[in-house]
Amino acid sequence: MRLSHATALAVTLALAVVTATSSAAEASPHVPAVAKAPVTAADAPGGKATPTKPRPVRDLWRPIASKATLPGGLAKANRPQPTPPPPPTDCRKAKCVALTFDDGPGPYSVGLARQLHARGAKATFYMVGRMVSEDPRAVKAIAAIPGMEIGAHTMTHPELTKIAPSVAEREIGANTRALRALVGPSVRTMRPPYGDRDARTDQIAARHGLSVIMWDVDTLDWQSRSTPITVSRAVKGARPGSIILMHDIHAPTVKAAPWIATELQRRGYTLVTVSELFGTTRPGRVYTNR
Ligand code: NI
Repeated sequence: MRLSHATALAVTLALAVVTATSSAAEASPHVPAVAKAPVTAADAPGGKATPTKPRPVRDLWRPIASKATLPGGLAKANRPQPTPPPPPTDCRKAKCVALTFDDGPGPYSVGLARQLHARGAKATFYMVGRMVSEDPRAVKAIAAIPGMEIGAHTMTHPELTKIAPSVAEREIGANTRALRALVGPSVRTMRPPYGDRDARTDQIAARHGLSVIMWDVDTLDWQSRSTPITVSRAVKGARPGSIILMHDIHAPTVKAAPWIATELQRRGYTLVTVSELFGTTRPGRVYTNR
């Protein structure tokens, strides 16, 4: 086995972080320690991830690697990760929380998924058809990262109960078919935009083999556009079995998410996909939390 450049870099950075981080910094979630920390080997394609160890604060606030900063761009990000899939969690026994991210894929989505995976966290991404057709490679890249689940979020993000049934059918159907064409039959859940649903839209979801996933913790991240507020709402709102709503198209949310993951883990939570949260989900049935 040869010591790669990435491994050597990781060791150097780990040592630097250990010497630079104080325990006081760990206690305060609202102090961004370093805004421009370097991207570590965990972000690099093929980089080693250490999911179980809590990361120091300085590391948590590291900017997410965007398409522009990933070496080689998305082509390399598309490579499957070398790490095996994390084992499934039995949420009847463990304290589980599902992080969910709507309205992507955006420019930060792949980097976010990698950051979460590096922390041993899983997540679910509810993707809009319009965004999917703009960046299908991002969809595949996220699905290739162990522990990341993809769900449907309609083609153009309408209020489903306010449009004609035939249009709602197309909105859900076309989005689901596009996602399954990219990542396969694992697309088994959908989220109605704005949470706007009724019995009729639930039936459409059922016809496409989708259960309907709502949430019980709303971070309102789109409104605050604030990393500390998003962290605080997610962490304070979480209960065993919670589904947390966020949006991976907003940079402050993307910065908040790794911090949320680490803080919830510190409090004894396991971060799971929505499918894992419920064990099995039934098409057409509505889920808000476990
Ligand atoms: Ni949405």
